[in-house]
Amino acid sequence: MSLPGPKKSKFDIAVIAGDGIGPEVIAEARKVSQVAASLDGAALEWVEYPFGASHYLETDEILPESAISEMGGADALLLGAIGSPLVKPGILERGILLTLRFAFDQYVNLRPAKSLPNVPTPVPLGAKGMDSVVIRENTEDLYMGLGAVSDLTGGSLECPLDLERGGYSMRGKLNMSLAPAMPFAAQVAVSTGHGVERIARYACEAALSRGESRVTIVTKSNAAPALYGFFEDTAKRVIDSEYPAVKWDVANVDALCYHLVRNPAAYGVLLCPNLFGDIVSDLQAGLAGGLGTAAGGNIGDGLSMFEPVHGSAPDIAGTGRANPIAAILSGALLLRHIGLPDAAGRIESAVSDYLASSPPVGMPVEFGGGSSCVEVGDAIAKKLNG
Ligand code: IPM
Ligand code: MG
Repeated sequence: MSLPGPKKSKFDIAVIAGDGIGPEVIAEARKVSQVAASLDGAALEWVEYPFGASHYLETDEILPESAISEMGGADALLLGAIGSPLVKPGILERGILLTLRFAFDQYVNLRPAKSLPNVPTPVPLGAKGMDSVVIRENTEDLYMGLGAVSDLTGGSLECPLDLERGGYSMRGKLNMSLAPAMPFAAQVAVSTGHGVERIARYACEAALSRGESRVTIVTKSNAAPALYGFFEDTAKRVIDSEYPAVKWDVANVDALCYHLVRNPAAYGVLLCPNLFGDIVSDLQAGLAGGLGTAAGGNIGDGLSMFEPVHGSAPDIAGTGRANPIAAILSGALLLRHIGLPDAAGRIESAVSDYLASSPPVGMPVEFGGGSSCVEVGDAIAKKLNG
């Protein structure tokens, strides 16, 4: 029998604070994570990276290969928000966020949606509140970056379908023509056995660790039977053959959205292909109380990255109005991932305690209170200590 090695107590955390409110909310997430980790006997060393809109506008650099490989040596990555009205949409989102997800094969996008004390919700949630989680496949589907637009007079289009992914490489070419000639575009979505099997397993493990026995497979196999029928059938097969304690049910994404709005508390683990997971996780965030509290993780077998679901909100950047709770809860997901579950639990309890005990005026601005981003971070850090 081998004895367990000494528990790791020092962690290197790469940080991309990013744009807009990113740096403000990340400062609070760092503050709170630092205190929680130290109460657990662990130290966090932060390694900052400047990438984002300002860096791009100043230097023309998006995300160099050298930084990607350097970050790979960290224990985790904390990211604030990327994007600015000064940069054409897509450049930084694809160039930083999606590049990192793909480079480190972060195949799980974990997005819990949990109601919190005194946080107003757009529909009543009932006494037990909402406690659901989106498990989004994070590397395939319509997000593979395979697509092209024909020339403007149109008629034909050629698009190489070559890419390297963790687990497989793909080769091919799309060659299309339309008659009569007209401009058109095509974007290729792919789902693989490798991709669906591993996310289905992750969803089952998530259900079991939540003490649940159900995974809802989110699909649209009635309209796109090849792509989503394959996702659905592969997920069902994995669950049936490998997880006898888990049952699946299936919901078309449109009907699911309808039912989520009417009864958000009825759902637990939602297993989604990439695009539906993107959409459903914003809906879930809205139902649970808003993007200000929605945390997320991009998880793989290598470097994992934790980020609030919200964007850079340039309209409120620098005003102190940003709500840091989503970033703070993303810090908790990060700590749980690196093996500090007690520190993570402490943060989640401190956030709930702060919201439950705060007078209305002490709530974040987003919830009608007067507490600035820094004051919310301070109040949560204080709850950790006592
Ligand atoms: C998200 C975002 C990204 C996505 C964008 C910015 C590319 O909406 O993280 O949900 O679609 O995944
Ligand atoms: Mg999104």
